[in-house]
Amino acid sequence: MSLTSEALTQRYQLACEVAQAAADFALTFYQQRQQLVVERKAGNMQDLVSRADREVEDLIRSRLQTAFPDDGFLGEEGGGSQASARCLWVVDPIDGTSCFLNGLHTWCVAIAAVVDGEPSIGVICDPNHRELFHACKGKGAWLNDVPMQVHQGASLQEGMTGISNSPRIAPRRIAGFVQALLDQGGMFVRSGSGALTTAYVAAGRLIGFYEPHMNAWDALAGLVLVREAGGVSNDFLAGDGLSSGNALMLGNPAIYQQIKALADH
Ligand code: IPD
Ligand code: CA
Ligand code: CA
Repeated sequence: MSLTSEALTQRYQLACEVAQAAADFALTFYQQRQQLVVERKAGNMQDLVSRADREVEDLIRSRLQTAFPDDGFLGEEGGGSQASARCLWVVDPIDGTSCFLNGLHTWCVAIAAVVDGEPSIGVICDPNHRELFHACKGKGAWLNDVPMQVHQGASLQEGMTGISNSPRIAPRRIAGFVQALLDQGGMFVRSGSGALTTAYVAAGRLIGFYEPHMNAWDALAGLVLVREAGGVSNDFLAGDGLSSGNALMLGNPAIYQQIKALADH
């Protein structure tokens, strides 16, 4: 038996509230970021973290698990529990941590829910710009209380394509994509927060998105937002996408095909 529509709606409402509360909490750390001790995650000089990431994730986990104790949880900082639950929350407490710690405003809180194996709720909160991007399967996608629609352009030349990249992947993958995009008259944007970039695709600010490898907590909220805003994505959860990540490609149906062709370049 699948989750009732009422049960999904309750989770959607809570996800919006918790993302906003978590983003407000993260903002208090951001405003005093000089006091944070910056750590580097093992084996990767570019992968920063601080107590802000951990404490924001603790807040999100505790609020969601108090309301729905039988749901599962997968967070970037604290890992997973009850992964086989019918509803699995997938959370990045701060996406764009390097930006956050260096005083750039491009970071966000990302909360997604996978229900019966299907990405079903996506919420991304950017407190610096007072923007809450939210979507629930079958209910459309919203920026605060305004409906969102993906960019309607037919060619990559008609807009800017969001890209993101991490040291997890050989540089030639993104370099080849950027070369091919520029060769056909496109343009790229990289903000440092993959999740916030995907929200901008849902809002129609960017025409599409590509990252060669994202983790599930970076990807799933934006995937739901874009699908509910009329766009399409690759099957991110294919294979072991939930536990090991995957490439992410987003756009309207025509743009998605063009991004896929360039990614295969
Ligand atoms: C990273 C950012 C970056 C993306 C990476 C992510 P973090 O997340 O979203 O833009 O390219 O794939 O790992 O470390 O800031 O949470
Ligand atoms: Ca992230
Ligand atoms: Ca993060």
